[in-house]
Amino acid sequence: MTTRPEQTLTMIREVCALGRVEFDRPHTAEGDTAAGRALVRGLQAVDPDGEPSDISLSMDLLAPRAPYFDRLVLDAVAAGTRQVVNLGAGHDDRALRFRHSGVRFFDLDLPDVIADKARRLRDLDTDTTGVALTAVDFAADDVAEVLADAGHDARQPTLFIGEHLVLFLRPAAVQRLLTGVSSRAAKGSSLALTVEVHPAGLDSALVVSTVDDVMFGGAGPLHTIKDREAWLALFQQHGWQVESAAEPTSVDHFELPVTGRQVGIQTQFLTATTG
Ligand SMILES: C[S@@+](CC[C@H](N)C(=O)[O-])C[C@H]1O[C@@H](n2cnc3c(N)ncnc32)[C@H](O)[C@@H]1O
Repeated sequence: MTTRPEQTLTMIREVCALGRVEFDRPHTAEGDTAAGRALVRGLQAVDPDGEPSDISLSMDLLAPRAPYFDRLVLDAVAAGTRQVVNLGAGHDDRALRFRHSGVRFFDLDLPDVIADKARRLRDLDTDTTGVALTAVDFAADDVAEVLADAGHDARQPTLFIGEHLVLFLRPAAVQRLLTGVSSRAAKGSSLALTVEVHPAGLDSALVVSTVDDVMFGGAGPLHTIKDREAWLALFQQHGWQVESAAEPTSVDHFELPVTGRQVGIQTQFLTATTG
């Protein structure tokens, strides 16, 4: 049976994909610019109460996020990176939009999401030979093994991206994900994640449980929010050097009261390279 957190996550995944196709975005010479719309055909982003979600609410969040990740993929392809691993890819079209001969895109997501994406891709008249759709549950599986089985080459540099993913994983799964990804990251690899950040000095577990209570009545899908220093330390612990660590690139996500004070949660974009 589908639980309320799963329904909320499905809605958010669909909101991301439906919102992103509204922007005018770059592409590679070989890229398919029509695939994005085709991939989201029929999606409604229905909330757990059965009401269609208001996609316009997410446009402010996507406005800096979509171009940030588009640029990373474009630059990596232009620089000769031959592997792009999209962690929690959802209905993201980047594997087709940034198609480039010799570049392999690995789209990783939960099995039902991958099955749905595979169905949608089969219905498109587009070249999918550069796309490896790869089922994984980051909470349970070893992403390193999953990538190896999917044909990822750990000796070659990779761009790993995770747009709006780690917020939905529990802290232990985030650790596990970073451990697995780092073990597949040859010299010259990059890792870019959006991370949810609360102001310093707050107890992260309390922030997460307050978000869950206030925003989702105790049944939310959001599990990991940390202060910036904790995120930077986590990257460093796994061998990643964060670029521009002193200057956060961010967008304000939401505000809520925590222990009597109004607290702002930001989505920050962290890009790191292997040391
Ligand atoms: C908010 S969506 C973002 C999707 C995509 N990155 C985008 O920006 O459009 C989060 C994605 O992470 C995936 N995800 C969440 N938990 C996961 C898990 N335990 N294992 C694999 N994927 C997961 C969801 O299925 C979903 O596609």
